Amino acid sequence: MRVQVSEPTLRRLSSVLLALVLGTSCSKPSPPPPSPPSDDYEGADGRPEAPGLGEVMVQVGRRFELAGRAAMANRFELAAFEAGELGELFENDVPRAGLPKEGPTAQIPAMAKTFLQSIPPELTRAATSQDPAAFAIAFEHAAAMCNACHQSAEKGFIQVPSVPGRSVPVLDPLPPPSRLDR
Ligand code: HEC
Repeated sequence: MRVQVSEPTLRRLSSVLLALVLGTSCSKPSPPPPSPPSDDYEGADGRPEAPGLGEVMVQVGRRFELAGRAAMANRFELAAFEAGELGELFENDVPRAGLPKEGPTAQIPAMAKTFLQSIPPELTRAATSQDPAAFAIAFEHAAAMCNACHQSAEKGFIQVPSVPGRSVPVLDPLPPPSRLDR
């Protein structure tokens, strides 16, 4: 029996063969498999959740630093904007964020709520009134609450400066670790 193969079919077949041959030598390396979801955090149901509190806090830190630096530069509109964004992070993202698995965390939701109710409104008021002294006081109140929560969660080494214009978190050098103690 004779198998009828049309010319287009032959052409297609040969290009498939060519691709197979070339494929072994010229193909790009296949992309790495997707990395498994981070398991640094877990939600109430034990499944990983994203973003975790630490990721939200990176944004909180950036917003807070910018608010302070903006106020120091008399850029109060920018400072008010960042204070508003800070409030939105605590309103929308912090409550949904997965909590760290390590350290005490049960107190975090209530402390975050207290923060939301008092701090962003005070910062926004001070920035909108373009009052450097009022802004400095609001900034100090805010930093005290940031640091209280960090300490409660055994993250006191994440130190938030109480005066505007400095990096968040504080990165000023500490004395070097003493070699004699070891
Ligand atoms: C209700 C508790 C709470 C409040 C309020 C809070 N934080 Fe945090 N923050 C945490 C916890 C918990 C972590 C550590 C998260 C982790 O373990 O990944 C953290 C981590 C951070 C980090 C480190 C992020 C990183 O991974 O590098 C920064 C920066 C930070 N916070 C800034 C602030 C600033 C600025 C404020 C106030 C404007 C603030 N936080 C208020 C709980 C809080």
